[in-house]
Amino acid sequence: MSSIVPKIKRMTTHSMQEMKRKGVKISMLTAYDYTMAKMVDAAGVDVILVGDSASNVMAGHETTLPITLDQMIYHASSVVRAAERALVVVDLPFGSYQGDSKQALNSAIRIMKESGAHAVKLEGGVEILESIRRILTAGIPIMGHLGLTPQSIYKFGTYTVRAKEEAEATKLLEDAKALEEAGCFSLVLEKIPAKLAEKVAKSVDIPVIGIGAGGGVDGQVLVLHDMLGMTHQFSPRFLRRYLSLYEEITQAVSRYVEDVKLKHFPNEDEQY
Ligand code: KIV
Repeated sequence: MSSIVPKIKRMTTHSMQEMKRKGVKISMLTAYDYTMAKMVDAAGVDVILVGDSASNVMAGHETTLPITLDQMIYHASSVVRAAERALVVVDLPFGSYQGDSKQALNSAIRIMKESGAHAVKLEGGVEILESIRRILTAGIPIMGHLGLTPQSIYKFGTYTVRAKEEAEATKLLEDAKALEEAGCFSLVLEKIPAKLAEKVAKSVDIPVIGIGAGGGVDGQVLVLHDMLGMTHQFSPRFLRRYLSLYEEITQAVSRYVEDVKLKHFPNEDEQY
């Protein structure tokens, strides 16, 4: 773990808020399974998001809509077993919280109880305030998510940058303030202009984590499989790839296949 990582035994929603206050940037990455989460946690990532992007990168769906609450709980439990330092936040999946605050509360309770996660994340602004307020009554911390909200992909039709127009930008800023006022402990802003994201981060006291939202926010999040270069066909401008694992893994596996076919594996030392 790098010496730049804050020496915190266990990240909490309060330590995130403290980091914003002190101007210490927050690192967040997704993870969906025990082995990857173990490495992400050991590397000092502050927050692990069990994102519903699992629907894309783990299950191969085109959108985040199909993943179920049971599947999210399965992924979250695996990550919780691995995370010793990071705060674990779990996405409430599509259909488990919109329009019915009682169902929202039940979904959030199931995630917390059955996975052992520390907080949940919900997509949307004032239109889901009733659900947010109800979940908060149970003492469950909530991270909001504004801007590009992939669960609403069929409403917008594209994954392009959001809130470029004045009206949408104004609504986003109002939504951010409403989420803070309701009691959300943090907020994700996805794929919006950097200037707007910075303005939001300065207008609220809760930490704002950006993905494709520039450097003027309080922290950054990326999808793990994207930043490791496992999803080589997905190349938005905001994505920085730290490895090219798609190529490295396929090359390693094809070497293994060759070794088996050519009877080079196993050798004398690799048997009993
Ligand atoms: O599901 C996810 O991975 C997310 C991030 C993109 C923020 O919500």
